[in-house]
Amino acid sequence: MSKLAILTSGGDSPGMNMAVWAATHAAQARGWEVLGIRQGFSGLLRGESLPLSSSKALPYARLGGTFLGTAREPEFAHKIPAALHRLQQAEVSHLLVLGGNGSLAGAARIAEAGFKVVGIPCTIDNDVDGSDESIGFDTALNTALWLFDGLRDTAEALPRWFSLETLGGDTGFLAQAVARAGGADVLLVPERPLPLEVLEQNMREALGRQGFAFLVASEGYPELMGTLERLEQALGLRLRHTRIGHAQRGGRPSGHDRLLARALAEHAVEALAHHHSGMIGLQQGQYRRVAFEQIGPRKPFPKDLL
Ligand code: F6P
Repeated sequence: MSKLAILTSGGDSPGMNMAVWAATHAAQARGWEVLGIRQGFSGLLRGESLPLSSSKALPYARLGGTFLGTAREPEFAHKIPAALHRLQQAEVSHLLVLGGNGSLAGAARIAEAGFKVVGIPCTIDNDVDGSDESIGFDTALNTALWLFDGLRDTAEALPRWFSLETLGGDTGFLAQAVARAGGADVLLVPERPLPLEVLEQNMREALGRQGFAFLVASEGYPELMGTLERLEQALGLRLRHTRIGHAQRGGRPSGHDRLLARALAEHAVEALAHHHSGMIGLQQGQYRRVAFEQIGPRKPFPKDLL
């Protein structure tokens, strides 16, 4: 009998729970047993798991975070034999890994050892190569926009200079989406540091045009706080800075993320049923099986987004 083990790994993202439920549901429909691994690869190495059923997982599907728990296990690549031993011990035939770049790299190492593993991109950073979108990105974007809009209300009432700092690690996908969807005046992303004079000029133009200026920055921008201080001095204006922080990673998944999670999970189970290993990615509206070897360490940042 087939037995699917599911784990969530790395930074959690809204929609992971939905993907766990959808995969459980799809696997049970095929008559498979399902096992949830606790705390990602760390829990796998410790052999911590629980039997899953569709009815057990369903109440969590609409919630953020991950009810299985997650962990960062940077040394996992060196512990593959121990992980394989645990999988064999639990009589697991297929593994589903939900996570971002590091987690998918861990999944690839297990697949290299001959085990059937499929990965699904889950990260609010949306920086997984081979997929236009990752689960959680849309929810994080909406959370940030809710704050952006709040700041905008007050900016229009009492003109000031505002900056909003998003998560995103050392990539700018999330910040650029917030800036574009919100209509920010200046975007700071690690992929393209800007000279101070350019920042100052853009801010001055926005201040002249509308009486206030809005800057969106990714947390990974080099020397972000120092840059903002220097800009503040150059403009001679006080900055109102908001850092969203980890709240951006939580919250109930948006409808879009739930649909994405469900579709990716269903395709993942189907791929496993056909003895495929790799990642399921969304590419130009199509769900595709992407070989682990084809996935780069990080999605290239498209220049036209700048
Ligand atoms: O999972 C990605 C992410 O949320 C990044 O956006 C952020 O920089 C990082 O994780 C935060 O990591 P930690 O939760 O370990 O502080």
